[in-house]
Amino acid sequence: MKKQQQEIIGHGWLVFAPEPSLRLFGLCLVCAATMLALWPFGVAAVEQATASNASSLKEIKKSIDTAQELLAEGKLSKAVTLLEEATKAIEEAAQLERVPSGLRGLIQRCKILKEELEIEGIDGSTITIPSLPVPAPKAVAKPAPAPAGGAPVARLPLKPNPVGAAGISAGISTGISFTGQVAPLLARQCGGCHIAGKKGDFQMASYEMLMRSGMVQPGVGNASRLVEVILSGDMPRGGGKVSPADLGMLMRWIDAGAVFDGGNRATPLEALAKGGALLQPAGPAAVIKPISAVALAPGDVSFAADIVPIFLKHCAGCHDADDADAGLQMVSLESIMKGGQNGPPIVPGKALESLLVKKLKGMNIEGQRMPLEKPPLPLDVIAQIEKWINQGIKLDALTPQASLESVAAVGVAKKLSHAELATIRFNAGKKLWKSAIPDEDPLVQQRDTVSVIGNVTASRLAELADAAAASSSQVRPELVEGDQPLLKGGVVIFVFLKGYDYSGFWQNVLFKERPKGMAGNAGVVGDVAYAALLLPSADNENANAEDDFKLQLVEQITAAALQGRGAPQWFATGAGRTVAMKTVARAPLVKVWRSDVPESLQRIGSAAEFLKGHGEPAALATVSGGFVSSIAASGNRLRLLTKQLDAGVAFEKAFNDVFRATPQALFEAWAAKQGLRPVRRS
Ligand code: HEC
Ligand code: HEC
Repeated sequence: MKKQQQEIIGHGWLVFAPEPSLRLFGLCLVCAATMLALWPFGVAAVEQATASNASSLKEIKKSIDTAQELLAEGKLSKAVTLLEEATKAIEEAAQLERVPSGLRGLIQRCKILKEELEIEGIDGSTITIPSLPVPAPKAVAKPAPAPAGGAPVARLPLKPNPVGAAGISAGISTGISFTGQVAPLLARQCGGCHIAGKKGDFQMASYEMLMRSGMVQPGVGNASRLVEVILSGDMPRGGGKVSPADLGMLMRWIDAGAVFDGGNRATPLEALAKGGALLQPAGPAAVIKPISAVALAPGDVSFAADIVPIFLKHCAGCHDADDADAGLQMVSLESIMKGGQNGPPIVPGKALESLLVKKLKGMNIEGQRMPLEKPPLPLDVIAQIEKWINQGIKLDALTPQASLESVAAVGVAKKLSHAELATIRFNAGKKLWKSAIPDEDPLVQQRDTVSVIGNVTASRLAELADAAAASSSQVRPELVEGDQPLLKGGVVIFVFLKGYDYSGFWQNVLFKERPKGMAGNAGVVGDVAYAALLLPSADNENANAEDDFKLQLVEQITAAALQGRGAPQWFATGAGRTVAMKTVARAPLVKVWRSDVPESLQRIGSAAEFLKGHGEPAALATVSGGFVSSIAASGNRLRLLTKQLDAGVAFEKAFNDVFRATPQALFEAWAAKQGLRPVRRS
């Protein structure tokens, strides 16, 4: 499922703490829990090797954690003191004969912290971050230099590998397949931080990168850093856990030489893990025509509301992304249409010729009737699927690549009433909070179109819920006509007391590090359209903090209401700022938003990159605000757009209808008008 988010910047806007910092204790609990989570086997060796250093490393880590916390609370000089303590301790640890292996990661964290402090105006020149020598690459893992022709020559003891899915298991003697087992495990448990991300300076975006990192020592599983960090309980961060069975599998794979059984070592791990490399369409026959979302005619079967829930309930368990039976992944419309070992299972317009229908009926097929080993689907359910196929496999929500879960969520939203949907979103919102901050139960307050979830006192939460409800009624007339709700089912608002908590939301829910300086964002996760905000603290010296907070509340609620309708992040962010600047015009932050546009525009690469959301989050948000407010501040264009989105029209088309140009053309014209270097053509 695609997680979208947008951000606002705190820009000299200090984040402060209304209540005593309880979370510090939470941190220690996390460390303690980590220590307790050690695996019962193989632990002794790891412990021995690191026992002498473990305590000092833990101290250093605690100093950094606390410094981070203080930074989030705006207590900058205290944060600097702790950072200095940490760097001193690191210097000492670096002198040890055997440099503790976690030290590199801690140094990296100090560097980031220093940069963050500098952003807040601290002179960092007095803080020296120690560095360690670059480790020599492990001999076995060292890739051989490429010959002049460029063909990879690095060879591992791999038997000839027959082409195609069937060859995979035949090609490997250990029985453990990198593409089939190891890559999916790493993608699932480590992906957000080490495949998409580069936490602790360690990235394994492909097999090649994994081996170059030196974290895997072929032949010796238990001496490989990749295994050690799991054994010690340090990885994965963020609450995940590698099962002993999976860890054993990983070790055995390394023990047997860490063999690669895919086609290309540079293939992204995510693609390998999804079987992308194995399930490439066999030939031109497998190519399907692009499908785009269309409006349904009366009486049509809805894919989103009627068909997808059937697939999710009865098929997805066996035909999932990790281990698809017969190679058929039923995870998106696209993956269904691509099909499995027998090719596309659906012939649009021809239900009776479609393998999928034949399999459901158990007629004229090889192999088994579906769903396998379960009672057949009721005849009227099969009839609905047939009707949908004969209707031309109309897609009535999102895109062919969207996950079936998110398509179903749109289908559900269409079918349910506002109140029913609000209950679903609220409950899903509570679950999300728990995954962000597992050790704390939040308080909740529900109003008509917003529910607020957060770790503040009951009275503060009630105040916040009132403020959110007021903001939501300010936003509503800007986005919708008449007495419609702002967003069907409402917006869930997460409020976080501490910077640390808000960072936890990013790490555990969005699987990313919180971008620098950000105090709020909005997005969609599963059934929840959310606005997330870090609360201003009571001891903020800025007298206008309340106005700035209101501004950001309006901004994020608007953005959530648009992302909940499928608008892309740049537009939702920009519209959020547009509505906020209009309705809370007195907030001091408005001036900063405006005055930062030219400088931020310099930092954006090209229109295409801007529209794709590539670039520094803070600069993107500022530019989004400047751009969208220039095209949508006056008149009823935002309302016209949401009306189309509510009717199921795809964003690109709705935008074109309302603004009479493509986003790219409008953006380029706007950027040129700023009198700046015209944005690079793309
Ligand atoms: C939620 C984020 C997150 C997840 C998930 C995660 N890591 Fe990490 N990883 C980190 C961070 C942060 C660091 C930097 C370490 C530090 O600062 O202490 C790191 C560092 C590492 C390092 C280098 C550490 C060293 O001391 O040499 C390895 C190896 C590693 N991770 C392996 C893994 C593996 C394997 C998984 C999956 C089983 C995983 N990580 C999952 C966040 C994560
Ligand atoms: C309990 C596991 C299981 C469930 C549930 C299941 N399948 Fe299957 N499916 C299989 C297996 C195993 C095969 C391969 C063997 C065969 O074709 O008989 C398969 C094969 C297929 C194929 C043939 C693919 C090809 O290219 O050969 C289709 C189509 C299919 N399933 C559709 C469905 C649909 C639709 C559902 C839900 C209504 C479903 N399956 C539910 C296990 C399952």
